Amino acid sequence: MVRQELVARHLDEQIAGRFPVGQRLRVLDVGMGQGTQALRLARAGHSVTGLESDVQMLKVAREALATEPEGIRERVRLIEGDGRETGVHFLPGSFDVVLCHGVLMYVEEPDAMLAGLARMLAPGGLLSLLVRNADALAVRPGLAGDWAGALAAFDSDSYTNRLGLPVRADRLAALTRTLDGIAAPLHTWYGVRVFTDNVSNDADLPAADELARLLAAEDRAGRTDPYRHTAALLHLFGVRG
Ligand SMILES: C[S@@+](CC[C@H](N)C(=O)[O-])C[C@H]1O[C@@H](n2cnc3c(N)ncnc32)[C@H](O)[C@@H]1O
Repeated sequence: MVRQELVARHLDEQIAGRFPVGQRLRVLDVGMGQGTQALRLARAGHSVTGLESDVQMLKVAREALATEPEGIRERVRLIEGDGRETGVHFLPGSFDVVLCHGVLMYVEEPDAMLAGLARMLAPGGLLSLLVRNADALAVRPGLAGDWAGALAAFDSDSYTNRLGLPVRADRLAALTRTLDGIAAPLHTWYGVRVFTDNVSNDADLPAADELARLLAAEDRAGRTDPYRHTAALLHLFGVRG
């Protein structure tokens, strides 16, 4: 919940700073999962295409979409496909915003995939990436008192996710170089989940006023040095030149 809320705030801020108010944007959400951001952007009036490789996740997203009013449903396209092969489905330059959130950790050759995503953007378009922060992998085991895990994490670019799968993490400096190389240089970045990374996914939400304070603290840390460097996730925005 914290992650989706912060990502939504960053996206709204970056979209508002780049595109005229009221413009219907063409959004591609690669690895959209259950479609939280895709549906939110469609509700905000944008045309959204979701690309998802997992048939089961696509079914969940289709069911969620089916509960939306017709005016929103008709602005959303859901497509089964691989984010590494966007060129098979779409023409270059056909989107204003491309989201790739929580996907890069599952991809072995992220640079090739990122180059493909950048090609999907029209000039001036936004590439929004949410990745696991490899520069701060020792924080989670360290704060949990897992000292062996923390020591191992310092020199590692991989970690075991909450599903127990070994996955990749990315470093800010390397992604900055990649974005430069694919003509979508880094414009801004935020940290996501500085304080709450060790909270279990099924923990009860705090009361509304406490939740508002939690989000305000996370939001502030995610845009403030040095805190944002220690976040569990990095939210980067590249802009297509
Ligand atoms: C951790 S979920 C993130 C979902 C959503 N983007 C979000 O941020 O809430 C990762 C999703 O990416 C999908 N995925 C992983 N690799 C993919 C690929 N190569 N192409 C398309 N989807 C992919 C998975 O099936 C999963 O639904």
